[in-house]
Amino acid sequence: MSLPAKVKLVDVGPRDGLQNEKQPVTAAAKIELVHRLQEAGVMDIEVTSFVSPKWVPQMADNAQVMAGIQRKAGVRYSVLTPNLQGFEAAMQSDPDEIVVFGAASEAFSQRNINCSISQSIERFRPVVEAALARGIHVRGAMSCTVGCPYEGDIAPERVSMLAGLMKSIGVQHVGVADTIGVGTPIKVQLAMEATLKHYDIDNVSGHFHDTYGQALANTLMCLQMGVWQFDTSVAGLGGCPYAKGATGNVASEDVVYMLQGMGIETGIDLDKLIDAGKFISDLLQRKPNSRASTALLNNRIR
Ligand code: HMG
Ligand code: MG
Repeated sequence: MSLPAKVKLVDVGPRDGLQNEKQPVTAAAKIELVHRLQEAGVMDIEVTSFVSPKWVPQMADNAQVMAGIQRKAGVRYSVLTPNLQGFEAAMQSDPDEIVVFGAASEAFSQRNINCSISQSIERFRPVVEAALARGIHVRGAMSCTVGCPYEGDIAPERVSMLAGLMKSIGVQHVGVADTIGVGTPIKVQLAMEATLKHYDIDNVSGHFHDTYGQALANTLMCLQMGVWQFDTSVAGLGGCPYAKGATGNVASEDVVYMLQGMGIETGIDLDKLIDAGKFISDLLQRKPNSRASTALLNNRIR
């Protein structure tokens, strides 16, 4: 078993987390969350998405949020761009990385971005080309790599097909997402292996929602495969408006706690991360959805 010595976490809380909140969250609160995350040592933050405000009204303040961030040197700020219209709007905000997002399931592709998988690739193609021409890093998110809310189980061959399509249009890195959190370690391993047919280990990441409580186990499985990059979400925020019932991403706090305990470096200050999660959870009037955060906050009271 060879575990990575270092792990990079992309905190997707401000985007994946807050896109799914019923209650309004102000741009100022989102900006404060980003500031707290960078203060905690998070070096990669998925801030917002440039999607249709009719589809996802929670992200309508994308430009305002991006403009309000006091950027910290070395931090990579990423945004989702599903098409050229979103990409062009995003360019006013000067992101360090853009994310195109496709799905291994046809039904989910239709519901989420209103087109088939092959149409989505054709939409992404000019976006990727334009980003690379400007020297902007391109990540691809691959949804429903183990299960789909509409189609059920997804075969690894579908994941391999999507990863191959992403590669063919120049996407530099792909994230293997368990959008609805139904995956278990062997299923996730198969989805990751299917992806590794097209991408090397340094250009893949895991993105695990924790609906069934499997996300840490799935993360550990990937670590054992040598994967060293993961999307996580502060306070376990998250979900997708087009994946009903799916809960948040694995909590960043839980992943950092696990990695610290394994002697794997993240560069993140767990106490400050817990404070960031507490800040946004207080604002949303609930407790952080993280066992490590709950335990460590209880310890502070004692
Ligand atoms: P469409 O309706 O097919 O687009 O939507 P269209 O090109 O036909 O345009 C229709 C209207 O949308 C027009 O406005 C466009 O201007 C507007 P109208 O003339 O009707 O007023 N429009 C846009 N507005 C702002 N920004 C844009 C944009 N594009 C078109 N970029 C579209 C296609 C993709 C835009 C739409 O389906 C959409 O916004 N979907 C939302 C997708 C989304 O944000 N999903 C959640 C994020 S993905 C996720 O959470 C999964 C992930 O976490 C990984 C995982 O867990 O699986 C990443
Ligand atoms: Mg997600």
